[in-house]
Amino acid sequence: MKLLIHGAGYIGEVHLRTIKRYNLCDVAVCEMNENRLREVADLYHVEETYLTLDEALKHPFDGVIICTPNFAHKEDVKKCVNAGLNVMLEKPIAESLEAAKEIYDQCRENDKFAFVAYCLRFAAPYQKIKTMITEGKLGKVFSIRASVAGKKAISDAKTNYRTVRALGGGVISDFSHEIDYSLWFADSPVSQVKCIGNRAVHKEWDVFDTAELLIECQNDIALSIHMDFLQPYFGRTIEIYGTEGAIRWRDNESVKFYNIANETWEDIESDINWDHVYRDEVIHYLDCLENHAKPLIDEKSGYETFKVIDACTRSAEETI
Ligand SMILES: NC(=O)c1ccc[n+]([C@@H]2O[C@H](COP(=O)([O-])OP(=O)(O)OC[C@H]3O[C@@H](n4cnc5c(N)ncnc54)[C@H](O)[C@@H]3O)[C@@H](O)[C@H]2O)c1
Repeated sequence: MKLLIHGAGYIGEVHLRTIKRYNLCDVAVCEMNENRLREVADLYHVEETYLTLDEALKHPFDGVIICTPNFAHKEDVKKCVNAGLNVMLEKPIAESLEAAKEIYDQCRENDKFAFVAYCLRFAAPYQKIKTMITEGKLGKVFSIRASVAGKKAISDAKTNYRTVRALGGGVISDFSHEIDYSLWFADSPVSQVKCIGNRAVHKEWDVFDTAELLIECQNDIALSIHMDFLQPYFGRTIEIYGTEGAIRWRDNESVKFYNIANETWEDIESDINWDHVYRDEVIHYLDCLENHAKPLIDEKSGYETFKVIDACTRSAEETI
């Protein structure tokens, strides 16, 4: 199999490093910034490189990992599916609800998929929590609370898209992993959202640097999510409450499960190995391409998540 990585910025480099380290498949790179292209090609010994997607798509590939800023996703997906390719598309699916819908339609009309790369689904704590909920270990789950924070998110990116609305930026969009996995845990359509967004520090931005999301699911699970681009420490937390048990998790710690039967907090072994997370994500994409496995997060799921991003953003912009 041969993949093209399109966009060799922060996450494009992560995927390239992963593919090379684990020798997952052949790989070529497309990057519009010539200096950056040369830098990653030299570092990871990539022989096949392109400056434009149009040029790259004249050559045969089994798939493309689209790692461009959110505002570029729609045009990039269109070109790839028109070239007959199923894509792995970095999250979130797009920069606007209209673009998200167009990507969804493009995939359906061309009978192609977009596997939306919400990578936390491949991390051990999230998989363990999902299994425990599905197995009914918590009884009836009624509350899922998550937080994600860190100013590192802004400095990681090679371009400025994370802080500009038209480019698909903002804390809600950028940290939409939390929306994706919370809805995966809740396993239910959304019935309403309420959101507060602030420019607590970055008054000059046209996007929020902090947000508090409240999401009600049709199965009466409430999701409560804090996001900020401000804290010096980059970290995530999860708390889940059910009638028969509870879960607490902080990254760098094991998942803790409150067992109602013996009234103790048990440690569930669940270290995150980030190399394995990104490795397993690409392996899943290759499995979808080669063996027609169903993408864990497809364009429909990515579009549904974007509806929540959009509704939260609109809610946060309502004023009295
Ligand atoms: N799954 C994750 O954990 C994760 C982490 C970071 C970023 N992302 C997602 O990956 C995508 C890329 O994010 P990033 O932080 O790597 O971005 P970045 O700014 O670091 O890199 C983007 C790259 O795309 C190139 N590019 C190609 N076409 C472009 C165009 N039309 N306009 C501007 N640049 C273009 C840029 O030159 C740059 O090298 C985003 O959708 C982002 O949300 C996902």
